[in-house]
This record gives sequence, C-alpha cells and structure tokens, in this order.
Amino acid sequence: MSNYHIKHLEEYYQVYRKSVRNPEAFWEEIAEEHFVWRKRWDNVLSWDFKKPEIKWFEGAKLNITENCLDRHLPTRGDKTAIIFEPNNPKEEALHITYRQLHERVCRMANVLLDHGVKKGDRVCIYLPMIPELSVALLACARIGAIHSVVFAGFSSHALATRINDSDCKLVITSDGSFRGSKSIDLKVIVDKALEGCPGVANVLVVKRTGTKINMEPARDKWLQPLLDEAYADCVAEIMDAEDPLFILYTSGSTGTPKGMVHTTAGYMVYTAYTFKNVFQYREHDVYWCTADIGWITGHSYIVYGPLANGATTLMFEGVPSYPDFGRFWDVIEKHKVNQFYTAPTAIRALAKEKLEYLEKHDLSSLKVLGSVGEPINEEAWHWYNNNVGKKNSPIVDTWWQTETGGIMITPIPYVTPTTPTYATLPFIGIQPVLMNENAKEIKGNQVDGRLCIKFPWPSIARTIWGNHDRYRDTYFTAYENMYFTGDGALRDAVGYYRITGRVDDVIIVSGHNLGTAPIEDSINEHPAVAESAIVGFPHDVKGNALYGYVILKEVGESRDRENLRKEINQQITEHVGPIAKLDKIQFVTGLPKTRSGKIMRRILRKIASNDTSNLGDTSTLLNPEIVQEIIDNAL
Ligand code: PRX
Repeated sequence: MSNYHIKHLEEYYQVYRKSVRNPEAFWEEIAEEHFVWRKRWDNVLSWDFKKPEIKWFEGAKLNITENCLDRHLPTRGDKTAIIFEPNNPKEEALHITYRQLHERVCRMANVLLDHGVKKGDRVCIYLPMIPELSVALLACARIGAIHSVVFAGFSSHALATRINDSDCKLVITSDGSFRGSKSIDLKVIVDKALEGCPGVANVLVVKRTGTKINMEPARDKWLQPLLDEAYADCVAEIMDAEDPLFILYTSGSTGTPKGMVHTTAGYMVYTAYTFKNVFQYREHDVYWCTADIGWITGHSYIVYGPLANGATTLMFEGVPSYPDFGRFWDVIEKHKVNQFYTAPTAIRALAKEKLEYLEKHDLSSLKVLGSVGEPINEEAWHWYNNNVGKKNSPIVDTWWQTETGGIMITPIPYVTPTTPTYATLPFIGIQPVLMNENAKEIKGNQVDGRLCIKFPWPSIARTIWGNHDRYRDTYFTAYENMYFTGDGALRDAVGYYRITGRVDDVIIVSGHNLGTAPIEDSINEHPAVAESAIVGFPHDVKGNALYGYVILKEVGESRDRENLRKEINQQITEHVGPIAKLDKIQFVTGLPKTRSGKIMRRILRKIASNDTSNLGDTSTLLNPEIVQEIIDNAL
C-alpha cells in the first residue's frame, strides 16, 4: 500500500515528484496493487495530444464491477455499500450491503440482457436519486453496455437530444421523483421525449411515487417484477481497458451538448485513488456526496470511486430545504457522516438561513469537508469552516471537470495547509500549466493565465461521442500539446492554484455547467424573438445567474413585456430545463457585434454585472452606438 494513502506534506511532494518523473511506473504500481485484473496490460500509456489519442493500460482486461463489488464480498459482504436516505425523513433509510448490491446489480444486468442489450450498446438512464440509479450504472457496466445518465431535471427536449446523439436503445426511468414537498412526473417527460426517438425499443420503469402513468404496451415495462424473476448472479463481461464505460453530456460554448466518453481501466484507477486520498477515507467511515449522479461528481464520487474502495457511500434523494433548512445537518447526525462533499451554491443558500438549523445537530462525526463545481467565495468558505467544520475539518476545494473524470487540483486533508478560495496543489500525477494569450507557458509564481494540463492522466475523457474532431478542436488546438481546460487560474507565491472561472462562453449557475447556445436557441424559437444573447452575472447564492438580451421581431413590439419574459422562461424550461431560466431579461434593439458578426459578450457581461466603468475597446464594433443604449436601459 506504499503509495496509496498520503499522510503528510513531505510525502505528498515525494509521491508527486515520483508521479511526474515517471508517470508510467507510478500508475502501474497503483494499478497493480489495488485492483483485480483478468489480464495484465501490455503497455501502461501511449498518447498523442495532436491526434488526440490517449490509451492507458492497453491490453488489460477487467470488469469494473468486479472491482466495485465481487472482490469485496469475502471481506466486506455484510458491510453497507450504499445508505439510501429518502426525500421524506419519515421514510426509513435503507442500508444496502455489498452482497445485496451485488445481487441487485446482477439481477438488473440479467434484465438488460433479456432485453437484448449487448456489450457496446448505449442505455439511457433518467432516474431520480434512488438506489436503482446506482444499480443501473453498475448493471450496464456488468454487461459492457455504455451508460448515458441524463440528469432528471433536464426537459424532454434535452433528453431526446441526448438519447438520439448516442443512439440509446433502452431507457431506464421511474414513474416520478420526489423533490421536497413536490413530485415530478418523470415518465411523462420520457414519453414526450421518445416521440422523437425512434431508436428506443424498451423503457424499464421503476415505481417510486406511485403516480398513475401511461405504459406503452409494446415498449414499457415495470422493472420490479422483472428483477424479481431474474437470476441473482450474472457473469461479468470481460472488457478491454479502453472500452467505453459511459457517456456523460456536458455543455459546450457552442453547439449541441458534448457526449464525453470515459473508458474503463484508467477511469477506475484514477477515481479510486483520488477518492481514497482526497477524502482520506478509512475503512469504517461514512462518506456523503450531495451531488446528483446525473453529473460527473456523482458518477466518480458517489458510485465508482467509493465502491472501488469498499466504502460506505450515502445517496440522498431530497433537497437541502426539506422539510426544513436543517436537512443536511440532520442527515449528517443521523448517519454519523465522516466526509461531506457539496457545492458552494448549497453552502451559500444554507448560510442565509438561521444558524439554529445547524446548531441543533451534532456534527462531531465530520472529519473532512469538500467543495466542488464552482469557485467557493471567501465568505462561504469561512461559514463552512466555522459552522460546519468547527475549524476542525479541513475543507478540500476540489477543482475538476466532466472531461477530467476525477479531481485534479485539491488539497489533501490533514496534509495540505488550506487557504480560502484556493484549490491549492495539483493532485498526484497532474501537471498543470498556465498559458498566456500568445500560447506561451507562464512560468514562476504569482502569475495568472489559462489553465492547461500538459500530460495525460488516467481518467481523461478519450473523445466526444461521434465527433472526434470536435474533441480535438475544443481541448487540444488552443495550445499545442496541451489539454485546455477552458478555465482561468492564478498561481500564488507558494504555488497554490486559484481557479478564477471560465474564459469561454460556458456559464456556471448553481454549480451547473450551462452552455449559451442551447439556451439562446430556445429563446430564439419564441415567435416574437429575433435574436438573443445570454451572459452570466454575479449572484449571491447561485454564483452566477443568467441575464438575457433579447431583440424582438416586429410582432413582439406591441406585446406586454412581463408576459413575454414569462413565456421566454417557459420556453427555456421546456427546451433545456428549469435550471437554465433567466433571472433578468432586457429587451434591446441591437447587440454589440464585431465586424465579423460575432456578439461581443465581454461588453454584455460587464453591463449585466453593473460594471460599465471600463468597457475596453469598442472601436472594432460594427454598431458602437448600441452600447450606450443598452447601458441606459439595463436592469
Ligand atoms: O469552471 C470550472 C468549474 O466547473 C467546471 C467544470 O464543470 P463540470 O464539467 O460540470 O464539472 C463540475 C464537477 C467536477 C470547471 O471547468 N469548477 C469545478 N470545480 C471547481 C470549479 N471552479 C472553481 N473551483 C472548483 N473547485
């Protein structure tokens, strides 16, 4: 276990140096000692960021579920793998042991096989945070099918786009989902989506809310009776190291969502190793990540990373405000949570509430606090540290992305001294660099630039499903021989990194990555709208909120503005999902454009942020006069 658990700062530097001096030897040792392989690799790493092509552990054969489940059975069969905490605190929590989880995964895998799902087929999973969601991911992995989880807050249009992009042949969903005092009829959303998805042959439906739903006789089946009849064991499909494990969509600054493809061996090794170290997980700890499995954080750090370590991972179905704003603290006390991993937006929302919600709970089990998804501001960091951690639990501000598969820049708790708002040091094996606008590396400390990574790590996404050129153009052409993250960062005097935010047109709202293009497209589909542009502006809970500038067609000019705003947001809710609704909508007669017709978002961002003191050079604009008009009418 030599390199598996970092215990002090000197050891971090030592292991870090080793990992970058000879990455192949380093990762080979980790892979060898901590995982089960059906066949050993022939080659640890081959890579070429120009093509780009990256292969880790080529030639190895394995099944990730044997690493997450089977191998634990002799020693941890009766240990809780998943604690399920339902939306309603009055409903009993479930403790699913490794043996039970293994059986549930095997049964679901057999049901998938019975429905003709084969290795390499794509299965779409559109489920709330219930145990079947984790089981569904693992059941796909068991038989070598590629799962594509779509966050169950996305609209039917967004769901259909994703199903069709990767040709999913089967969908796993539920009748509905509980969210606080509300329930959402998921099956209705699926039915609507599938009107435009001819490739889907079957829909398996989990009963959760008990609402009455429509079942298409030839297509839809309740899942539970099938699971009850299915055989409780299922031989794992033997996969190649580089076989795809899953597709997960993320927004781009332009165009359709990108189906990031993660493969098997490297993803497993990296998520397991980071989980162990970033949370300093010990055998009997209870670990809780509040993310939804519909996002990468849930894939890597609710399901695969924890289970590969034989950990106990908590799945929470509900929301932080139900039945009151003390719910997170109640769950921590109830299950004696040791590691708690959440998003700055949740921290900011809870920090606004009365401290009594928190103070009446015993949070003394906590050892490590985590933050992910967006920059954590200083105020939120201190609130988290003082009130939740009582200054006793280090905060790990973890920077990473859907594309990176695992945590990239982070403190190691009890090892790396933390500084508010800093993600601090690169994780073992990660080689970040800062680049300037002339594509030159910025060396030294106390500098800022664009964050790139100059050497592959095991869990980097290998391609965009069906569009390798887009993968290359998005991540590997801005800087030669580098992976470009899309983020800006600074490096301080001691070499700590602070992520300053996106440098492209991706906007992060409440920790959710939103691309401008699909939102603008849906606004533009409104019959009264001619053109639109959206930008982010600072928001004290969401981090960023959306500001839309909308040009109306003549037909819209006589319409009531408030009604139009409502209709536009309704349109966005239907096309993308409620998370993409605009906080402010300003009607304008034009948008600032360059001579090549590109919208100058930099100016719009400044106006939305109420910071018009220095708009920079506007002389290259085609229509500079529009700027003052927009400022005069800003909201
Ligand atoms: O801008 C960075 C921000 O979230 C982006 C990635 O979003 P997504 O692919 O949805 O993955 C989120 C969960 C891993 C990044 O490009 N981001 C993520 N973590 C941090 C962050 N920004 C600042 N600090 C972080 N800790």
